Amino acid sequence: PLPAPFQVPLRVPRVLQPTRDGDTDRYELTQRPARVELIPGVSTGIWGYDGEFPGPTIISRSGRRTVVRHRNLLPVPTVVHLHGGHTPASSDGYPTDLLIPEGFPPGGHASGHHDPRADIRVGSRDYEYPVLQRAATLWYHDHRMDFTGPGVWRGLLGFHLVRDDEEEALPLPAGDREIPLMITDRAFGADGSLLYPSLDPTLLHRHGVPRPYRQGVTGDVILVNGTPWPTLEVDAVRYRFRVLNASNTRRYRIALDPPPPDGTGLVQIGSDGGLLERPIAHDRIEIAPAERFDIVVDFSSYRAGQAVTLRNDLGRGTTADVMQFRVGRRAVDDSSVPQRLSTIEPLRPRMATTTRDFVFRTSGDHVWEINGQPFDPGRSDATPRLGDVEIWRFTTDFHHPVHIHLVQCQVLQRGVEDRGPYDAGWKDTIDLRPSEHVSVIARFAGHKGRFVFHCHNLEHEDMAMMGNFEVV
Ligand code: C2O
Ligand code: CU
Repeated sequence: PLPAPFQVPLRVPRVLQPTRDGDTDRYELTQRPARVELIPGVSTGIWGYDGEFPGPTIISRSGRRTVVRHRNLLPVPTVVHLHGGHTPASSDGYPTDLLIPEGFPPGGHASGHHDPRADIRVGSRDYEYPVLQRAATLWYHDHRMDFTGPGVWRGLLGFHLVRDDEEEALPLPAGDREIPLMITDRAFGADGSLLYPSLDPTLLHRHGVPRPYRQGVTGDVILVNGTPWPTLEVDAVRYRFRVLNASNTRRYRIALDPPPPDGTGLVQIGSDGGLLERPIAHDRIEIAPAERFDIVVDFSSYRAGQAVTLRNDLGRGTTADVMQFRVGRRAVDDSSVPQRLSTIEPLRPRMATTTRDFVFRTSGDHVWEINGQPFDPGRSDATPRLGDVEIWRFTTDFHHPVHIHLVQCQVLQRGVEDRGPYDAGWKDTIDLRPSEHVSVIARFAGHKGRFVFHCHNLEHEDMAMMGNFEVV
C-alpha cells in the first residue's frame, strides 16, 4: 500500500525544548516502542526517541552545555551516540556502555564481548555534551554493540544541530527556509511493519547480521524525515537544506531535475563539521551513509508551479527518486550566500607526529575487518597523545564510509588527487571507495579516553568493522 511519490507533505521533526539552568540546557528523551504512520493510513511499529521517527531535533548553542537524560523503555539495551560531537568518552556512547531497561533479565544483554571497562546503567542515563565546538549538523543514533543496524532501522535516530554566533551573523536562509532533510531507505511488510531481515533467527550468522545481508540492508522506499518520497511547497527563493544520509547502507547521488535554469545547482555551504570556507557549486552530490551536506538551493529561476525532483542517480526504480519541490510564488528574499563563509585552520602534514595505516577489508566471507582484525573492546588500535595531530591513511577493497569519533578531520589526499569534490571542510565521515587510498589529518584534542572508529555501513559495523583508539 505504498503512496504514489510526491503526494505526502514533508514533515519537519519537532524541536525539543530544554529546561535551562545556568549555562546548561537539559533535555529528556524516552526511548520507547510506538505505532506511527510513516505511510499515510498504515500503522508501523517503530522504536523511537519519544516514540517518533525521526526523533525530535535538539538544537544546542555552541559553548552551552547540553545534558540529555535518556530513559529506556524498549525491550532491549541501547547506547546513544552523538555523531560529530566532540564528546568526553564517558558520554560518547561506547558500544558496550549500555543503557539497560528496568527489569531486563540479568546477563540478557551479553553480546559475546566481555568488556571489563563497560559502564552499564539501568533505566536512565545522562549524556553530557560540553558543546565546545562550532555550528554543525550533528545527529544522534543508537550504537549498541552488534545491533546498531536494526536499532537505527527501527527508528533510533534524530538531528542534533549546533548553532553559533559566527553562523548566525551570515545572511543565509533561515527560519522556515532552513530545513533538515534526513534521507533513509526502508523496506515494509504487507502489514506495514519495518522489515529488517535479521529478525529471522535461522539466517543469523554472526553478530546481529544475517549472512545474506552482510553487504548491508537496503529498502525500496525512500523516506525523508520519515515521509515516503515527500513533496515540499517552496517559494521562489533560496532555501538551506541540511542533508543527512542516515541510511544503513545505501549511498545516494542527489541532483535536481530539472537543474536550476540559472545554473546555480546545489550550493554546498557546509559539511559534517560545519561551514566551509567558501561555497562550492555542485551539479550533483554523492553522499555516503552518515555524511552531511549543508546546501543552498535558489528556486527563483524556476517558473511558478514547476515541479522539481530531487533525484538519486545511483538508484533504480523506486529508489531513483528522493522527493519533490513545488515552486510557488515569488517572495522577498534578503538571504544570500557570501563568498566567505568561515575560516578553517588548515592542518598540514608537517604538523603530524604519527602516521597510521588502516586497511578496511573482508576476511573471506566471515567478517568485516580493520587491519585483519575484527573489533575487540579490549584492544587499542591506536593511541594518539592528547593534542597531537596525526595522519590516518585508509585503503579498502569495497565501499566503506569511515567514521572517527571525537574528532573532525581534513582530507589530505584521495587517490592521486588532493581531495575529491565532496571532501571539503571538516569531516567526521570519509567516503572510502573501492581500491582507493585516502589520507586524513586530525588533531586528537579535548578529551582523553577510549573511542571507536568504524565503517558506518551499519551492517559492516555490526559485523565487527570497528576499531578502538585511546587518547592518552
Ligand atoms: Cu554515527 Cu559511531 O557512529
Ligand atoms: Cu563498510
